Amino acid sequence: MRVLVTGGAGFIGSNFVHQTVRERPDVQVTVLDALTYAGDRESLAPVADKITLVEGSITDVALVDSLVADSDLVVHFAAESHNDNSLNDPTPFVQTNLIGTFVLLEAVRKHDVRFHHISTDEVYGDLELDDPAKFTPTTPYNPSSPYSSTKAGSDLLVRAWVRSFGVKATISNCSNNYGPYQHIEKFIPRQITNLIDGVRPKLYGAGQNVRDWIHVEDHNSAVWAIIEKGRIGETYLIGADGEKNNLEVVETLLEIFGLDRTDFEHVNDRPGHDLRYAIDATKLRDELGWTPKYTDFRSGLEATVDWYKANEAWWRPAKQATEAKYAAQGQ
Ligand code: NAD
Ligand code: TYD
Repeated sequence: MRVLVTGGAGFIGSNFVHQTVRERPDVQVTVLDALTYAGDRESLAPVADKITLVEGSITDVALVDSLVADSDLVVHFAAESHNDNSLNDPTPFVQTNLIGTFVLLEAVRKHDVRFHHISTDEVYGDLELDDPAKFTPTTPYNPSSPYSSTKAGSDLLVRAWVRSFGVKATISNCSNNYGPYQHIEKFIPRQITNLIDGVRPKLYGAGQNVRDWIHVEDHNSAVWAIIEKGRIGETYLIGADGEKNNLEVVETLLEIFGLDRTDFEHVNDRPGHDLRYAIDATKLRDELGWTPKYTDFRSGLEATVDWYKANEAWWRPAKQATEAKYAAQGQ
C-alpha cells in the first residue's frame, strides 16, 4: 500500500511514520511536509532510508495532485497546530488548515483515493471544570481560537466532500498528545526543557485547566484502527481517559526531576483559554476494539523526560527563540 502522510515531519506525523515503518513493512510511505518551524527533517532521520520525504506545501495544487495520483491512502496530519501562535497571527492557520485541506480533498476526489483526516477535540470548544460530561461524536462544534476554528472548518469540509462527492474519508478528533519529537513550544516539552535548563516551569494562570492526555503511540495505533476498520464518513474520537489539570502535570514533572512540587511560576494566562477537554472514546473502543497501551501517565512522562534528555541536539536549536517569543508576552 502506498501511503501519503502530510505533516509527517511534525510531532504526531513523524511518530506515525516511525510506527508504520516499524510495524507495517508492506506500506510504502511518502511524506509531504513544508518543513515549517514545526517540521524537522531530523525527526525522520531514523527512517530516512525507508521513506520518501517531499518538501512542499499542501496548498500547492499541482504537487498535491501528482502525489495523490500515486497513492492508495492519504493520512492528513499537516496543520498549523499551536493555539498561542494562532492568537498572534491567524493567517497561516487559514491557509494550511482550511485551504490546504480543501486542496487535498479535491485531489482525493479526482483520483478516488481513501483519505483519513486528523483533527482535534478542540473543535468542540471546552467543558466546565465541574461538568461530568465528556465530548462525544455528537457534541456540537463550538471552537474558541483561530487554531480550533480552522480545524473545525477543515472537518466540515471533509464531511461535505463525503456527502456531496462520495469521497472515501474518515475523521478522528484526538485529545492532547505527549511523547517524543513534540515541539518545545507545547506545554509538556516546554516545561521538560526548562527543567533541563534549570528554569522553573511556567503555568498559565492558576493551572486549573484540564487536558485529556494521550501518548502519541496510542493516538497513532487508533488512527491505523480507523483506517483499517472504520466506517467511511464516520468520525471517531480518540482519547485514553487521561484527564489532568496543568498544575498536576507540572507537579509530576517537578517530582520526576527530584525538585520541590512548588518550584514553578505562574505567568500570564492565554486569552480565551479553554477550561477543560475530555474525550468519550466508547465508539472507538466498542466498534473497532481499540485499547491504549500507555495507561500510566507518570511512566509515559518519565520516558518522555528521558527522551528529551537524550535528544538535546534535536530541540536545543529552537529553545532560545521559543522562550524569547513567550517572554515578550509575559509567558
Ligand atoms: P506539528 O505542528 O508538530 O506538525 C505539523 C507539521 O505540519 C509540521 O511538520 C509542519 O512542517 C507541517 N506543515 C505545516 N504547514 C504545512 C503545509 N502548508 N504543507 C505541508 N506541511 C505543513 O503538529 P502536531 O502536534 O504533530 O499535530 C498534527 C495534527 O494532529 C494536526 O492536524 C493537529 O491539529 C492534530 N492534533 C494534534 C494534537 C496534539 O496534541 N498535538 C491533538 C489532536 C490533534
Ligand atoms: P498546549 O500544549 O499549548 O496545548 P493546547 O492549547 O492545545 O491544549 O497547552 C496545554 C495546556 O497547558 C493549556 O491549558 C495551556 C497550558 N500551558 C501552560 O500552562 N504553560 C505553558 O507554557 C504552555 C505552552 C501551555
